[in-house]
Amino acid sequence: MEKRIVSTFDEATRILGCPHAIANRKREDYDKIARIDPLVAAQVERFFQQWPMYNDGERHLAVRKRLLESISSYEYKQRDMVRASLAELFRRDRITADDLMMAVLRWHSMYFGVSLEADLELMQMSDPLIELVIFHDYTKVDEAAKALSYIDNFFGSERFASDGLVGALIRRGNDVGAIMNLLIDSYTPMIAAATSVLYRAAELEAGRDLSRPERERFLLDALGKMPPFRFINRLYPDEQEQPRWVGIDVLRCNGALLEKNNKREALGVTFGSGRHMCLGFAPAIDFLDDLLVEARSSKFERVFEVEGAIDLTGPVSTVRDFNARKRQRELSTAPSLAQPRWR
Ligand code: HEM
Repeated sequence: MEKRIVSTFDEATRILGCPHAIANRKREDYDKIARIDPLVAAQVERFFQQWPMYNDGERHLAVRKRLLESISSYEYKQRDMVRASLAELFRRDRITADDLMMAVLRWHSMYFGVSLEADLELMQMSDPLIELVIFHDYTKVDEAAKALSYIDNFFGSERFASDGLVGALIRRGNDVGAIMNLLIDSYTPMIAAATSVLYRAAELEAGRDLSRPERERFLLDALGKMPPFRFINRLYPDEQEQPRWVGIDVLRCNGALLEKNNKREALGVTFGSGRHMCLGFAPAIDFLDDLLVEARSSKFERVFEVEGAIDLTGPVSTVRDFNARKRQRELSTAPSLAQPRWR
């Protein structure tokens, strides 16, 4: 099916707020998987239908409401530990993209209340599901089936802290698929976001303290120019009322907004808009703010000015394209993963 690209903010927000825009757009993918293995296709479909991202209408509202109740009432006690580990990171002489990835993983594991090893393993084990359904790699059917069984066992085990977010989500009766949407969507996008923030932080004037609103403005601006998700996809009725693929180009929508208002309207559609607007906006900004504060209170100039001191000096595309999944596999054998408190 031909895809129409949307590149203005006004049209993007109209589509994202419209009840006729269909987020559950994976029907053809499940059908293709069913031609290879109908049983796995049914399991995969059941899993992704629990994701708020692929839900519509009343069911989407109900899934989203239950997740939001847990997120908004969650008391995230490990934030100081995350800040301390960031402070330690920026004391080093050399920081690589891998180090930054580990910092994001540490935040992810502490925010969700899953040990570092278990969190990394869960993300790695889930990978074939993403490769199969999101990136259409149909060689991953068997591995996707194993991933689903791994995920089921994981949530039946005690591999998460009872006072962490995963524990709270389970207690409130959220489906495993809905919880996995949160976990997966907050991992690689946050690695990309952290990289973009540090890359752009080099433009900030060193030495001057920035207030929280100024920092937030900077973060939204940086992410608006280097959005972790370039496209938001929907099926949307055309003039003949037939569903047609629409790809909302986040970067161009944000850019067009900037031109139109001739001033910095930072939020744009970086975190989506309307019905499916990002559920992790607040924790994402909190972590990125901590990252920015700690980077700037280190010997900031050294981190950014000494050649090779931080592996983020290439052009934007090089920085953003670093292969997070490959690094993940390499890092899984790294001996330095700290033991979390609750293990
Ligand atoms: C800078 C980091 C992030 C960016 C740029 C981002 C961006 C987005 C975007 C564009 C959407 C809308 C997708 C759509 O309409 O199809 C979205 C939805 C979502 N995000 Fe994020 N996100 C980020 C971080 C997070 C984090 C940290 C979490 C979890 C803690 C999270 C969880 C979700 C979930 C569950 C949805 C689906 C909401 C729904 O469909 O109702 N995201 N995000």
